Amino acid sequence: MRLNLMLLICVGVTVSQNVTSYHGFKKYIIDHTNENIYKYMIELQMTSTNIDFWLLSKNQSIVSVSPEVQAVFEDRLGALEAPYDIEPFSDNEGVCESDSEYRRSTRQTSGFFKRFHRYSGILDYIYAIAASYPKYVKIESLGYSNEGRVIPGISISINGNHRERKIAYIQGGAHGREWICTPTILYTVSEILANIHAFRSILQNTRLYFVPLVNPDGYEYTHTVDRFWRKNRHRFPGRQCVGVDINRNFGLYWGSRGSSNNHCSEIFNGLTPFSEPETQAVRTFLEKNRSRVKLVLDVHSFGKFFFYPYGYTKASPPTKHLLHTVAQRASNAISNYRGTRYTIGSSSNLLYEASGGLDDWAYGSLGIPLSYTVELPGNGFSVPSHEILHIGRETYAGFIEFIRHVTLF
Ligand SMILES: *[C@@H]1O[C@H](CO)[C@@H](O)[C@H](O)[C@H]1NC(C)=O
Ligand SMILES: *[C@@H]1O[C@H](CO)[C@@H](O)[C@H](O)[C@H]1NC(C)=O
Ligand SMILES: *[C@@H]1O[C@H](CO)[C@@H](O)[C@H](O)[C@H]1NC(C)=O
Ligand SMILES: [Zn+2]
Repeated sequence: MRLNLMLLICVGVTVSQNVTSYHGFKKYIIDHTNENIYKYMIELQMTSTNIDFWLLSKNQSIVSVSPEVQAVFEDRLGALEAPYDIEPFSDNEGVCESDSEYRRSTRQTSGFFKRFHRYSGILDYIYAIAASYPKYVKIESLGYSNEGRVIPGISISINGNHRERKIAYIQGGAHGREWICTPTILYTVSEILANIHAFRSILQNTRLYFVPLVNPDGYEYTHTVDRFWRKNRHRFPGRQCVGVDINRNFGLYWGSRGSSNNHCSEIFNGLTPFSEPETQAVRTFLEKNRSRVKLVLDVHSFGKFFFYPYGYTKASPPTKHLLHTVAQRASNAISNYRGTRYTIGSSSNLLYEASGGLDDWAYGSLGIPLSYTVELPGNGFSVPSHEILHIGRETYAGFIEFIRHVTLF
């Protein structure tokens, strides 16, 4: 399919909608010193639409709380004897990037990783890279989002199409606010292309496929209206609340755990499995290529985790040892750059049980042997722009390590 370049004019936020204000919001960092606190947080994530979970792990929660519910929330934490710290939102948190800032941005490839870009800037970069390496790169459309934006796929291979190869698939940006995912994936694309000869032997057997922005609508919305938007932008007639959590909409034990059927929840799983065009686009690619895809990485932010299946149950997958070993090697490769350490395990055990994730479906339904969710470094969704290049470099080493293991299958 040819990719249709959408010319997106940056809509000034004043035209249609006001920017969501986070004035008076606070960030709570809660230590789960006992099981009851953890259980309470799981319950709260399922039921509350006022408290936004940025991280919910066995040991710790990071939540953003609006001014109206802070007093009640603090009382509850007190009753549970839960130790917590409060951080005010930093000055730039919750503030969308202005158009003037966008227009000042450099279009040069070398400057691309110095700052975060709007969707159109990301597309420009992808086309520029394809034009620089026409022998190796093919840009495709994986599909279209709810609002009609193309979801670009970047295919890297040598010697064209005349040989069936295994596929390593890396996607990111399923959650709008997790900005660091897209440049991290694009950094890996650019490094591989700049050093293509070093990858000859890998590319003899493997085609690399990158989808740097699965949820372009949610991403754009975080630049124009609400910096902390997570879901896609599916509008339901007669409903006030918008959006489905793409990472709760995949079809293995859909709707069973850690997801919500409330439209207003941050973890709303949609009306049916694969109800969303973004999820359908990913499904079509992976199903049609299922016998060849050996690696699926779904890149998120934040927390420095490698999660392997299962998310929907605490039961171990049959190949747990292998999944753990490969992730350990990737983690070791990443740590060479500046010592960053990832925590490895199933998300059901390290975080909480949640169904509808890509990793579970790819592994459990399609039988793709290496299937992971990656949570990149950071203490929040607003990763400073001077970190983009560093996270790009260290994570690149980890991605390559995962890709190297495709030849095992
Ligand atoms: C934007 O804010 C102004 C002033 O608070 C308000 O009058 C207006 O209704 C808001 N517009 C929308 C679309 O929410
Ligand atoms: C949780 O805390 C325990 C004990 O302090 C530690 O061993 C473990 O690595 C922590 N897990 C995560 C996911 O941070
Ligand atoms: C299967 O994967 C190839 C890349 O190897 C891609 O070009 C093609 O579009 C995929 N098929 C479908 C139906 O998505
Ligand atoms: Zn995410």
